[in-house]
Amino acid sequence: MANNAGIIGMGHAFPEGILTNADLEKIVETSDEWITSRTGIKQRHKAAEGEYTSQFGTKAAKQAIERAGLQPEDIDLIVCATTTPDQIMPSTGALIQAQLGATNAAGMDIFAACSGFLYGLTMVESMIRTGQIRNALVIGAEVLTKYVDYTDRGTCVIFGDGAGAAVLAPVAEGKGILATKIRSDGRYEEALYAPGGGTKLGTTHETIDNRDHFFKMKGNELFKVAVRSMAEISKEMLDKAGYSVEDVDLVIPHQANQRITDAVASRLGVPEEKVYSNIAEHGNTSSASIPIALDECLQSGKIKEGSLVLLTAFGGGVTWGGTVIRF
Ligand code: COA
Repeated sequence: MANNAGIIGMGHAFPEGILTNADLEKIVETSDEWITSRTGIKQRHKAAEGEYTSQFGTKAAKQAIERAGLQPEDIDLIVCATTTPDQIMPSTGALIQAQLGATNAAGMDIFAACSGFLYGLTMVESMIRTGQIRNALVIGAEVLTKYVDYTDRGTCVIFGDGAGAAVLAPVAEGKGILATKIRSDGRYEEALYAPGGGTKLGTTHETIDNRDHFFKMKGNELFKVAVRSMAEISKEMLDKAGYSVEDVDLVIPHQANQRITDAVASRLGVPEEKVYSNIAEHGNTSSASIPIALDECLQSGKIKEGSLVLLTAFGGGVTWGGTVIRF
């Protein structure tokens, strides 16, 4: 019989360093007023020199494994969603595997920008459902502040660092992931990309002078597509799961921008109190934003046994996804 896959433990981690809007006012021409009114962000976490992605992924994963009541050896697969890996090779998932001592697991990365966690959930859900694996870690881990250009005020005010992790395993009928779907449209490549360092441009004096190794974003081009895509896939997944918007206890959208979150909520017709937001404290942590938010909601009791939760994400690629989970 097919297994339902659900989240049985979660964790999250941040670097200690904080970068406030006032700090950014000293780096680029911006203001707390602009950042707050355009994005909702007040501060973001920032890794120190010598701190890197796998460390935060491992910290979050350890907490998730412990809360699931498992040992690292019980994990069969580690999927790390990241756009800011420690290095090109090996994968950050493999590095986290070593740091955890998860000796029976396979480790791998997913490159789907801010939708990466939902990409991971979707893949792992089907592997658990078919019995190919039993226990899996899906991690979203990012140190975006090292890929952000602190001369570009359009991107550097948005992104922050952090990691969130979930242990997925078979759960009772009617619980766990009820519907999930991922999408992409690579024609939007240049709306959010880091062109340098790959096989196309390589790493040359010119690419470095052009700052091609940093993220470049056309934020206003992404805005409308993000709202439309997240709202559409959310409705589609609720339909597929056999629920309507009124049945949802909590919506956790990727924390990209408070105005995007508000616009998605309004398109869906969900009241503000049912939509979770932590963007003021953490900024946009890309693939880490949904698992961090989920764990915060589980710890604070906002999500309880039986809660119906809708997750939706949008990111560079462009990529997007929607997932409906019964806890
Ligand atoms: N401080 C002050 N002014 C700024 C600024 C900053 N940090 N960043 C941009 N501006 C200026 C621009 O230069 C522009 O000035 P101009 O009108 O004189 O040319 C003006 O503000 C408007 O810029 P625009 O880019 O149109 O602003 P916006 O309202 O679209 O907000 C984002 C910018 C990035 C906050 C917003 O577009 C966004 O969040 N987009 C989606 C991001 C996203 O979803 N990414 C993918 C998923 S992570």
